[in-house]
Amino acid sequence: MNFGTPLSPAAVKVMLLGSGELGKEVVIELQRLGVETIAVDRYAGAPAAQVAHRAHVIDMTDAKALRAIVEQERPHFLVPEIEALTTDELVRIEADGLCTVIPTARAAHITMNRERIRVLAAEELKLPVSPYAFASSLEELQAACERIGYPSFVKPVMSSSGKGQSKLKSAADVPAAWEKALSAGRVREARVIVEGEIKFDFEITQLTVRAKDGTHFCSPIGHVQKDGDYVESWQPQAMSAKALEQARDMAGKVTGSLGGLGIFGVELFVKGDEVWFSEVSPRPHDTGLVTLVSQLQSEFSLHARAILGLPVNIEMASPGASAVIYGGIDAKTITFDGVDAALKVPGSELRLFGKPESFVKRRMGVALARGADTDEARARARRAAACVKPVVYPS
Ligand SMILES: Nc1ncnc2c1ncn2[C@@H]1O[C@H](COP(=O)(O)OP(=O)(O)O)[C@@H](O)[C@H]1O
Ligand SMILES: [Mg+2]
Repeated sequence: MNFGTPLSPAAVKVMLLGSGELGKEVVIELQRLGVETIAVDRYAGAPAAQVAHRAHVIDMTDAKALRAIVEQERPHFLVPEIEALTTDELVRIEADGLCTVIPTARAAHITMNRERIRVLAAEELKLPVSPYAFASSLEELQAACERIGYPSFVKPVMSSSGKGQSKLKSAADVPAAWEKALSAGRVREARVIVEGEIKFDFEITQLTVRAKDGTHFCSPIGHVQKDGDYVESWQPQAMSAKALEQARDMAGKVTGSLGGLGIFGVELFVKGDEVWFSEVSPRPHDTGLVTLVSQLQSEFSLHARAILGLPVNIEMASPGASAVIYGGIDAKTITFDGVDAALKVPGSELRLFGKPESFVKRRMGVALARGADTDEARARARRAAACVKPVVYPS
């Protein structure tokens, strides 16, 4: 690939579909390489839109709107940052040769739906997964839950960040879980997966980079999830050599099947030497924000390089950790108290995403920290995050 000058006819152009905090870091990395960046989201002023050369606001689930913006901008690469897209149109855009979809349109299409990726991982690739069944009505769900047993998880087949998810303890929980899944699913399709609980020791994200010269595996990232949303992550997560080997074998198989170039976040459950596949993002993973301090090249830098066919380096820089900063309040305009105190914590860094509105459970920033080991890094990241307090403006 020839690298040109942005905003000139020689520019390499990348369009991001979804412009959140993860896309913002990808845009920054692309701009460091002189790439012209275009951010697309459903609302104005999204984090990546604030740093990209241009931004557009469209409904990315609308095939006509997506096609029109791609035809107008003619990017070389189309990079999905979120799942909630018209992936059918991505498949057509790729088939028509309009641009390269990252990693592939098929990967975006399969991973946006829990049923498709589960069938691929479990039935085609034979990866170990939790017991599972699908249901399209309350009656079917009741029967499925009896087969799978309790405790179990019910999730809309199309949803992310824990939306519409319930943990069930007994048959009495089934009707409420069905209602919750219906109201929170991304589309009106009434389809859910029920999964038996895996009693894991810990869960990891195995960041896997498909670069021009082959597949590279980052050090495993450990994380804690609350209500289906990540609150803390660290790298490296200590695990047995046998479990690590299996994790990488599984990550290699699933990313190999999805194909294309770029980074993938492979979510796995680990118990002793045993590993189960959970799900995979064909893009940077939120738990991978830790790599901004823990790796020589963050997951965002790795994604940018891999997409452009450049060499990648997955070496670590230091043990590190991240801790999420939530809005904590519903407010149109906020300021952040305690930024100075947070940055006094040794080895700490902050990313404030610049989201234009705060919600109680909206991720507004993240505290990062290095340490001699992950215990120290985690303690520092948590301490720094706790210093930062969003407050209503004007106060
Ligand atoms: N079958 C399961 N067994 C144990 N924990 C689970 C299971 N399914 C989900 N979880 C927990 O819920 C979290 C979110 O589930 P996940 O399927 O990753 O949904 P999302 O797509 O919203 O991230 C997981 O990271 C894990 O902590
Ligand atoms: Mg997940």
